[in-house]
Amino acid sequence: MTTVIDGKKLSEEIRNEIAAAVKTMVDAGRMPPGLAVVIVGDDKASHVYVSSKKKACEAAGFYSREIALAGDISQSDLIYTLEQLNRDPQIHGILLQLPLPSHLDEFAALKAINPAKDVDGFHPVNVGYLHLGVDTFVPCTPLGVMEMLKRHNIDISGKNALVIGRSNIVGKPMAALLTKANATVTIAHSRTRDLPGLCGQADILVAGIGKPEFVKGSWVKEGAVVLDVGTNSVDDPTSPRGYRLVGDVEYTEAARRASVITPVPGGVGPMTIAMLLANTLKSRQQFP
Ligand code: GUN
Repeated sequence: MTTVIDGKKLSEEIRNEIAAAVKTMVDAGRMPPGLAVVIVGDDKASHVYVSSKKKACEAAGFYSREIALAGDISQSDLIYTLEQLNRDPQIHGILLQLPLPSHLDEFAALKAINPAKDVDGFHPVNVGYLHLGVDTFVPCTPLGVMEMLKRHNIDISGKNALVIGRSNIVGKPMAALLTKANATVTIAHSRTRDLPGLCGQADILVAGIGKPEFVKGSWVKEGAVVLDVGTNSVDDPTSPRGYRLVGDVEYTEAARRASVITPVPGGVGPMTIAMLLANTLKSRQQFP
């Protein structure tokens, strides 16, 4: 029997635990965790993500601030905004929604965020700590995957883990976390040879490439644990919305072979926001 991990339910459980911790904090007269989300320009999808982050924050009792900046803002004005948030005592977490418009330097902007408030874990100091195996802020999506494995008591130590995708947001931090958990980790990417062969050896397979159903179900090893980080919209005239969401893994056949699998939607996706709240609470606990 395949276990299908319900990421929505797990995310709700975690968000309830966080809300209870925040209530205890506020009842004791302490300031709640505060998250600032900075969004530049009017990309529709980014605004949808940001408003769901804001809603989740408020439901957990956080202080939440959304800062929407014009799409033509200068690099120095963006950095000035981030520096003001660095100094703001009500703000414990700063998230700069990516991608930024192309005239802005993403790396320089991320570097301007105080690493102690970098709840996305994208600042080079935190990326360095993660790769040194030092406790730090870890990017929310790979952290969510690790939390899913932990809460389902899935053994990682000594297992062959294959991470497909080498992005800074998912693939690289995912590989670092699995390595720290004593897996033998391979990172695959667009130039990898014989991906089906590598998948066939993977006890744990994480797909984060952003290509709909790229990983074929027939490649999955019998009994593998499959974590699908992709959320891709594909045209579907039979659906009332005209599209449907699919992962990076061909689900039906993969689910037949896997021992554990995450669905799309309702798998890894909802865990990302829960981990953003967890990181912001962790940050709050490190401030007086
Ligand atoms: N854009 C897509 N995913 C993310 C994320 O996890 N954090 C930020 N800041 N921007 C994103």
